[in-house]
Amino acid sequence: MIYPSKVKIVEVSPRDGLQAEKVTVPVASRIQFINLLSDAGFKTIEVGSFVSPKWVPNMEGSDKVYQGITKKEGINYSILIPNFKGYEAALENKVDSIAVFTAASETFCQKNINSSLKESLENFKTFVPDAKKNGLWVRGYISCAIACPYEGFISPKKVHEVALELLSMGCDEISLGDTIGVGTPLKVKHLIKGIPVPLEKLAVHFHDTYGQGIANIYAALLEGISIVDSSASGLGGCPYAPGASGNVATEDVIYLLQGLGIETGVDLSKLLKASLFIDDVLKKETSSKASKALRIDKINLHRSYFEK
Ligand code: HMG
Ligand code: MG
Repeated sequence: MIYPSKVKIVEVSPRDGLQAEKVTVPVASRIQFINLLSDAGFKTIEVGSFVSPKWVPNMEGSDKVYQGITKKEGINYSILIPNFKGYEAALENKVDSIAVFTAASETFCQKNINSSLKESLENFKTFVPDAKKNGLWVRGYISCAIACPYEGFISPKKVHEVALELLSMGCDEISLGDTIGVGTPLKVKHLIKGIPVPLEKLAVHFHDTYGQGIANIYAALLEGISIVDSSASGLGGCPYAPGASGNVATEDVIYLLQGLGIETGVDLSKLLKASLFIDDVLKKETSSKASKALRIDKINLHRSYFEK
């Protein structure tokens, strides 16, 4: 078996996690959470989104969050944006990394950003090339890369077409989202095989609704993927994907990768500190199995295992 020797974790909990939680987390706590994540060693953190607060109220104040966090050298702090207005806000706030998002499903696209798939791509073309000229890092998300909550399973061919469009307009990285977490390893394999995007630019973004997130990441690693999105404590979901649970938990992913001897740069005990903090704010029990195991009073035993 050949795995990548290093994996970049894209920590999406401050955006994908918190956007769908029942509790709206105040700006100050969001800042504190992100600072703890920065301390844990992530190289990319999705800080928030510049979207309509009428559509996603939990992300209101993302500009203040972006301004308030302590930015560490070498960390990519990214903001999710849906349109030109979001891009203007990104420039105003001197954001140097953005993520745009569309879907491989027409219905989901309409429900999520109130536009057709074609319109969403046309819309991105009005600012992505400019963002590249201005030196911004641009990620492109494709939701419903495996299935749509309204249309059912989606063909890999459709996803590949959208991926090519995003790549052609200048996206640096493409993230394939199993938005509703129904994928299984074989579906992941078929999704990645033959995709017209260099593997080093391709990320996987799995929600964990059916508990397949870790197995799906393993399948993606075997296909040569080395960028994995995940969410501390398994927070979140998508407000426009009924039934979708949180992203695969970062603690579980790190545990898997450490077991495979893959380097991530993330300190699991520091990540745990961030997760404990945000679960406390949300008054919520973690959905991460690894986090639960590490939190019990055997924590020191587990730590000594990792320090070996
Ligand atoms: P619309 O209603 O068609 O837009 O929504 P509009 O242009 O008519 O504007 C409506 C209002 O929103 C106006 O305000 C605009 O100014 C404002 P009003 O005049 O009514 O007071 N507005 C904005 N405000 C702040 N920032 C902006 C912005 N744009 C317009 N950028 C729109 C269209 C795209 C705005 C809306 O549908 C929207 O904000 N959608 C966001 C949905 C979202 O954030 N979903 C979750 C993220 S995607 C996800 O989770 C999936 C992912 O994780 C991958 C996966 O798991 O698959 C990435
Ligand atoms: Mg997501």
